[in-house]
Amino acid sequence: MEGMSMKLVTLGLSLLALYAIQKYIELRRVIKSVQYPSHPGKITLLAQDSLLSNILPRIPGISMGGNATWEGRYQRRSHRERVAAYAEVGWDVVANISVLPSQVTLSLADAAAIKEVTTARFRFPKPVWQYKTLSFFGDNIVVSEAEEWKRHRKVAAPAFSDKNNKLVWDETLRIMFDLFDNVWGSQELISVEHALSLTLPITLYVLSAAAFGQRISWKDDGTVPTNHQLSFKDAIVEVSNNCVTKIIVPSWAMGFNAHTRKVRLAFDELENHILDMISSQRYAEKKAEKHDLFSSLLDANTEDPTFTDRDLMGDIFIFLVAGHETTAHTLCFTFALLALYPEQQELLFQHIQTYEDMSLLTYSMAVFNETLRMFPPVNNIPKYSAEDTSITTTNAAGEKRVLPIPQRTIVILNTVGVHYNPRYWKDPEEFRPGRFLEPDWPRDAFIPFSPRACIGRKFSETEGIAVLTSLVQRYKIEVLEEPQFASESFGERKARVLTTKPALTLKPVRVPLVFKRR
Ligand code: HEM
Ligand SMILES: *[C@@H]1O[C@H](CO)[C@@H](O)[C@H](O)[C@H]1NC(C)=O
Ligand SMILES: *[C@@H]1O[C@H](CO)[C@@H](O)[C@H](O)[C@H]1NC(C)=O
Ligand SMILES: *[C@@H]1O[C@H](CO)[C@@H](O)[C@H](O)[C@H]1NC(C)=O
Repeated sequence: MEGMSMKLVTLGLSLLALYAIQKYIELRRVIKSVQYPSHPGKITLLAQDSLLSNILPRIPGISMGGNATWEGRYQRRSHRERVAAYAEVGWDVVANISVLPSQVTLSLADAAAIKEVTTARFRFPKPVWQYKTLSFFGDNIVVSEAEEWKRHRKVAAPAFSDKNNKLVWDETLRIMFDLFDNVWGSQELISVEHALSLTLPITLYVLSAAAFGQRISWKDDGTVPTNHQLSFKDAIVEVSNNCVTKIIVPSWAMGFNAHTRKVRLAFDELENHILDMISSQRYAEKKAEKHDLFSSLLDANTEDPTFTDRDLMGDIFIFLVAGHETTAHTLCFTFALLALYPEQQELLFQHIQTYEDMSLLTYSMAVFNETLRMFPPVNNIPKYSAEDTSITTTNAAGEKRVLPIPQRTIVILNTVGVHYNPRYWKDPEEFRPGRFLEPDWPRDAFIPFSPRACIGRKFSETEGIAVLTSLVQRYKIEVLEEPQFASESFGERKARVLTTKPALTLKPVRVPLVFKRR
């Protein structure tokens, strides 16, 4: 018996030793492949993207910590320290090497290298497996690549037309005026605990009208049609508030408690509403000319027989996921920045008084862009190398280096890294919309929508400008004065109001504001 367990222990130990040796060899190979340490990098035991390392704090040598994403770099460390990761090493491409699993993740804050990666879609495709969780309504444009992606993109692209942009503009103004007239009414002062409580419904209502073709309003809860349990409004509000639940909880477990049952009902109901919309529009006697995204997709789907109702459903849902929080969070940060920088708000106000046409509202656009530079909703955009390849990077001294990239290396476009890189942006920590009005602003170093990737860019820009213009014309935005913060300095106030947390997209934690009628 004794001998037996000794043998087992010995066997166990040798297996462990073998495993360690194998890991060591793998690691050597990985390290050599990216020329570490002659090219800068960082080695940790656990991979950046593993679930465990997100839960663990930052332990030098073991994990980067969940806060190694935006939060940790911006909130807890100064900007200087944040770019130091790149600056200290002199290069804007850094390799993060992990032992378990043995893999390299290249993080790019070099505008030229980013351009090289995004213009070579075949060499650097999207690692679709990282997006799987977003395919709960079946395949869609965001989670697909190659031929399948082209099929979706070909149908979706024409829907984001000038006519749709016009609809976005008109519907956004309608929703804002409904807010001013029927919700805020004659109040001189409107205080909100958190500006997201305003921007989330605004962007949801715009999507509802301009994407789904269903107008919903602030006060009206919508009627519940026979054969439905929820109104369209209740269903879409509930769904957009609970996407994370749907992503995390497997479908067989959705019946386990009251909350998840409620979420399941909302998803089922929204799906049923869309199926009704499909059949009522498809079999309508007289077809009205409509320019919402849903109607355009439906038309395209009648023309392309390979594009099924299921595809239509997947894409229309993904517009909700991709377009709601991103735009809502950006507008919330914009309000916060305008409240913190009253002189910038005054410049914007003067500008709006002068122009009315969207194409001339360049200052509003610059404010929106500057917010996206400082608070890009999507912090990391992953790609991977489909083959053994390389990219060229340049250091602060102007030296070039060709960096080999083994097949299947994850290459991350680090939005925050490039948006705060002092090589491209002077005083990157400063909110200075005017920088976008200079003729030679660094276009390649501005990637909030990932170069040419976001199909909804114009949609969200149009919406953003309409919201900003209509609001700032009528109301002055200020930070809400609260007794517990009476003695704070400007720096402290700025840090408090602009506190963020990583969520599906970068999220403002609490932005308390006052809107004062002008
Ligand atoms: C401030 C607002 C927005 C930001 C910052 C943003 C950002 C992005 C980024 C970075 C990507 C590329 C993702 C990747 O390749 O991994 C993307 C793709 C996409 N976005 Fe947006 N987005 C915004 C608003 C919108 C809106 C309003 C819509 C729809 C109405 C939308 C729909 C999409 C879709 C469908 C894709 C996938 C396109 C494709 O793969 O062909 N986005 N967006
Ligand atoms: C991340 O940072 C926040 C504060 O900025 C802190 O409350 C939180 O505990 C940190 N999380 C980890 C895993 O270190
Ligand atoms: C990799 O390293 C850089 C620089 O240290 C850091 O900013 C980044 O968050 C790390 N992780 C990823 C996934 O890029
Ligand atoms: C804002 O950024 C977009 C790119 O996302 C660019 O096309 C546009 O010219 C910029 N406009 C202004 C006024 O900053």
